[in-house]
Amino acid sequence: MKKVITYGSFDLFHEGHYQLLRRAKELGDYLIVGVTTEHFDRMRGKLNLVDPIKVRMDNVWNTGFADEIIVEDHEGQKIEDIQRYGIDIFTLGSDWVGRFDYLNQYCKVIYLPRTAGISSSDIRNRTQKIVRIGIIGTGRIAPRFLKETSYVSGIEVTEAYNPEEESAESFEQKYQIKTWTDHFDDFLKDLEAVYVASPNETHSEYVRKALQAGKHVLCEKPMTFTYAEAVELYELAKEKKVTLMEGIRTAYLPGFQQLLSVAKGGAIGEICDVEACFSRLGVPGSREMTDYKYSGAFLEYGSYGMLPIFKLLGKDYQDVQMESVYGENGIDVFTKVQFRYENSLATAKAGAGVKSEGELIIAGTKGYILVPSPWWLTRGFDVRYEDPGKVDHYEATFSGLDGLRYEISEFVSKINGIGGHDYKLTAEESIAMADVVEKFMIKRRDHQRGLE
Ligand code: CTP
Repeated sequence: MKKVITYGSFDLFHEGHYQLLRRAKELGDYLIVGVTTEHFDRMRGKLNLVDPIKVRMDNVWNTGFADEIIVEDHEGQKIEDIQRYGIDIFTLGSDWVGRFDYLNQYCKVIYLPRTAGISSSDIRNRTQKIVRIGIIGTGRIAPRFLKETSYVSGIEVTEAYNPEEESAESFEQKYQIKTWTDHFDDFLKDLEAVYVASPNETHSEYVRKALQAGKHVLCEKPMTFTYAEAVELYELAKEKKVTLMEGIRTAYLPGFQQLLSVAKGGAIGEICDVEACFSRLGVPGSREMTDYKYSGAFLEYGSYGMLPIFKLLGKDYQDVQMESVYGENGIDVFTKVQFRYENSLATAKAGAGVKSEGELIIAGTKGYILVPSPWWLTRGFDVRYEDPGKVDHYEATFSGLDGLRYEISEFVSKINGIGGHDYKLTAEESIAMADVVEKFMIKRRDHQRGLE
């Protein structure tokens, strides 16, 4: 019996898929089809799949060509499958020519001509309305956002806004994107969504205005400085039936999702301590080192550290204590926030102008997890035990420079109502972070008053 295997996402099942499966079946007697998991697709940079895996598998099955369907969920699985199932022929469409020639040492590789004029990506782009998004604030992060959106289907940056004329003008010239300096309502008019990347103190006002105008909002952290305002903004988003997301990009990375599952899955027993550090030396004179009112180490980087703490231990801590090392003008150059839970402890450390190891350590009753620096990009991690010779290493492939595309992709999915419940970063978690930010601001202000 001649066994054939093929793989694909088979999203929004179309004629090209049908023809491929038909011809694959004709190559032998028994056809195995590997359907990718969403996780695997995200890992290999294919974002925004529409159909859940059950639907994609059913569609393959309904063609009647597959004798067996398996799930493809990791890099390197093809070689394993070919050996395990005793495969004679590996086949894929001609868009992959050359890419899988290395499998010739295990079985015959055949590339079938691709059906012209159709692809899942095309259908996604045609059927999903393209989300027109405007960037508010044209500083350092705006060009990165612009670049990363080009890797996510279904979204397009069409406009920008910055009341500072010089910055607006240079952004418009460099990126050929219409950049407004006033008439905020007109700027919003043709948009479905905005990305707020302006100075920290302006975030909440822009968010409020955009939500009131019925726009979806992705806002850089920290979205607000107070608990009450965070509650108000999430309620407003609910009332207006639009998506509001705080842009803590780590929350949306596949590697970080995997880390949470492993940590909560019992591999290290009960979690007793979480310790996370994010620090950057930065440029002297930059906002994070001089704006003592609205910037500084904790306001810029503290959300990163709080993220794994709230994800792993919850937001209902019993007590929070914070201490800072202050610079000349009263800005915090290093801040340590310590949480006490009923049966565990946690620390978030942030440095701006102070450098430390950017690692995340999760300590448990059976072992610990070490995510090496930069843990907030979660490219991989170790589960370690008492016996130093025993280490379970997890590797997560990661596309792009800074993980922003996963956050953008999540935002688009939410706008389109794909992907179910909020769980990667909930409104409650974001509100709990605003609460800590508020406590921090009060403490730092007290310190600054003492300097006057
Ligand atoms: N395929 C094909 N003809 C097409 C589209 C896909 O023969 N017009 C083949 C692919 O070469 C692959 C299989 O169908 O062997 C599954 O492809 P998949 O990547 O799931 O489909 P695409 O439409 O190419 O998806 P996307 O646009 O998301 O890349």
